Amino acid sequence: MHKVVISGTGLFTPPNAVSNEQLVAAFNEYVAHFNAEHAEAIAAQELAPLVASSAEFIEKASGIRQRYLMDAAGVLDPARMTPSLPERDNDSLSIQAEMAVAAAREALELACRSAEDVDMVIVACSNLPRPYPALAIEVQQALGIRGCAFDMNVACSSATFGIQTAVNAIQSGQARAVLMVNPEICSAHLNFRDRDSHFIFGDACTAVLLERADAAVAAGVFEVLGTRLATAFSNNIRNNFGFLNRCDERGIGQPDKLFIQQGRKVFKEVCPMVGEHIVDHLEQLAIRPDDVRCFWLHQANLAMNQLIARRVLGREATPDEAPVILDRYANTSSAGSIIAFHLHKDRLGTNDMGVICSFGAGYSVGSVVLRKN
Ligand code: COA
Repeated sequence: MHKVVISGTGLFTPPNAVSNEQLVAAFNEYVAHFNAEHAEAIAAQELAPLVASSAEFIEKASGIRQRYLMDAAGVLDPARMTPSLPERDNDSLSIQAEMAVAAAREALELACRSAEDVDMVIVACSNLPRPYPALAIEVQQALGIRGCAFDMNVACSSATFGIQTAVNAIQSGQARAVLMVNPEICSAHLNFRDRDSHFIFGDACTAVLLERADAAVAAGVFEVLGTRLATAFSNNIRNNFGFLNRCDERGIGQPDKLFIQQGRKVFKEVCPMVGEHIVDHLEQLAIRPDDVRCFWLHQANLAMNQLIARRVLGREATPDEAPVILDRYANTSSAGSIIAFHLHKDRLGTNDMGVICSFGAGYSVGSVVLRKN
């Protein structure tokens, strides 16, 4: 079996930074308008008034201060509260493919590789633009890569599941190098009218190039020591959008066709699951948690990450050991842990070890243990 390394990563950051204050102002204007419009029904107690959101609550409950969006104007328009992303004709590069190509080019460049060196493209993300043709094949064509390409979706864990798929293909000799990309437009599945979750997500795209260790040309690559995936069914994070929707008109446009979560339950159930998962994975590889230099965790909630790190290390993690990017990016689904890795991987010296760990809907958990060469 061939050894596998991560030799390059890339990040596409959307152009529009939106602060909590801007988001809350739009939400509260929507609330005021709704309550005024339904004043009579509210006074007659036939309808509950909507309640305002607060920027202080958002930062305190989640650690998020801002997010980057593909479109801010549509989201911040109280009459719309949905990104405005015009459909493109079939002959134009789709918006997610455009994000993917930008991140992929950076990953290839850092790996000192070009399209000819890659045999497989995996697009792994929470929300795909269409059932077919696969977005990955569009990205493959845009980059001029031969071989094969396919999409996969394991929600927020898509990237680690994608990494394991890439590792398998390289270990077995099926591919020399695999490009794994995570174009996330989370703003398009977020209900910006829902007070409980309107602040959670941001948009971004990450890319990871994996290849055979004995063929890598870039310096300072990261050897994959092991990958471990786990899933357990839960309805606590769910989105019922799908191709069957049109077969029952009653459901079309209902809130369950967007992201819905029971945040408290997710917090309580997922933290122990992830802590145990990482500890078991390290134990399996005979690595002590204290010997891990950096944990690049999924970026959904600051307190969640602090709790997971505490469960793994038996003490508080320093910001250096568990880097935070959700303050700027919010939850970018599968891209989150890879953004943390991309921006903070240089904290590792030669032979230092680190863990990428994702978790989210499914539930799903994935960990990738790395050592810097
Ligand atoms: N502004 C002001 N107050 C708000 C609010 C908002 N936008 N949203 C909720 N609140 C209030 C609630 O009404 C509640 O008030 P009460 O105590 O008077 O009833 C209080 O804040 C607590 O609400 P709760 O929903 O329990 O908040 P929380 O502390 O659980 O934080 C999340 C909410 C979503 C930040 C948190 O649960 C979370 O991050 N969970 C994990 C999410 C996750 O990782 N998901 C994975 C997706 S991939």
